[in-house]
Amino acid sequence: MLYVALPPKLIERLKSARRVVVLTGAGVSAESGLPTFRDAQTGLWSKFNPEELATPRAFRRNPRLVWEWYAYRRKLVADAKPNPAHLALADMEKIIPDFHLVTQNIDALHQRAGSQKAIELHGNITRTKCFDEGTIVTTWDDTGEVPPKCPNCGGLLRPDVVWFEEAMPEAETALAFRLSANCDLFFSIGTSAVVYPAASLPHEALARGATVVEINPESTALTQKADFVLTGPAGVILPELLATLRMFGT
Ligand code: OAD
Repeated sequence: MLYVALPPKLIERLKSARRVVVLTGAGVSAESGLPTFRDAQTGLWSKFNPEELATPRAFRRNPRLVWEWYAYRRKLVADAKPNPAHLALADMEKIIPDFHLVTQNIDALHQRAGSQKAIELHGNITRTKCFDEGTIVTTWDDTGEVPPKCPNCGGLLRPDVVWFEEAMPEAETALAFRLSANCDLFFSIGTSAVVYPAASLPHEALARGATVVEINPESTALTQKADFVLTGPAGVILPELLATLRMFGT
């Protein structure tokens, strides 16, 4: 029993699509128990102020608070498991030859589900880097200091995520734009589509004539522009899409 009937025209597009790009956001991990950012009541930004926790200025002002907030989120991520949405996307990568997954998520659940080449636009909470040098650090002395210090320069360590007021990773961002401009089918899944530059990607795809499909239980900033809107949880709809793809013997 399908949760949403896939429109026949979308099935046609699925059959004929050669280059597929998927953009994911926090909603894809919601069914793994991880909070989104902007959902009323449950979203992180309804409880916490990003200016106090997710900017370089916040870190300079109170590095302990920021480190501990990310330690709390790192624990949530470590305890979470990939859900059927992550698993379906990992399978799609295997069966669609030209398939690219771009994510705003920092939880690495796509990789844990088996996605081999996820493009991370906002970094990865499981990695740590030096605040001063920007270099990735994998081991450091546990002296009890919070945050711990960089073993190379003595600077403070921070999570390797993109904060507000920071630049996006250049190579990943350029690649995501290039792929979006050259795809013929683009999925925007579990994102409110309001944080730029990631939110530009579906518009880039639309401008070049690609079909844009949104999967989300709620309407978003993109809904009006999308060619197809599949309303519902990604963990239900993506396995159905995958089953449809398999039926074609792709
Ligand atoms: P948001 O919290 O803004 O949006 C999450 C979206 O997921 C909403 O549109 C929900 O309706 C949808 N959603 C909830 N449950 C879902 C489900 N089961 N299946 C599908 N969709 C579901 O999160 P993002 O759009 O990812 O950046 O936020 C973008 C960026 O803003 C984040 O990467 C983060 C944040 O500030 C930084 O921290 C730099």
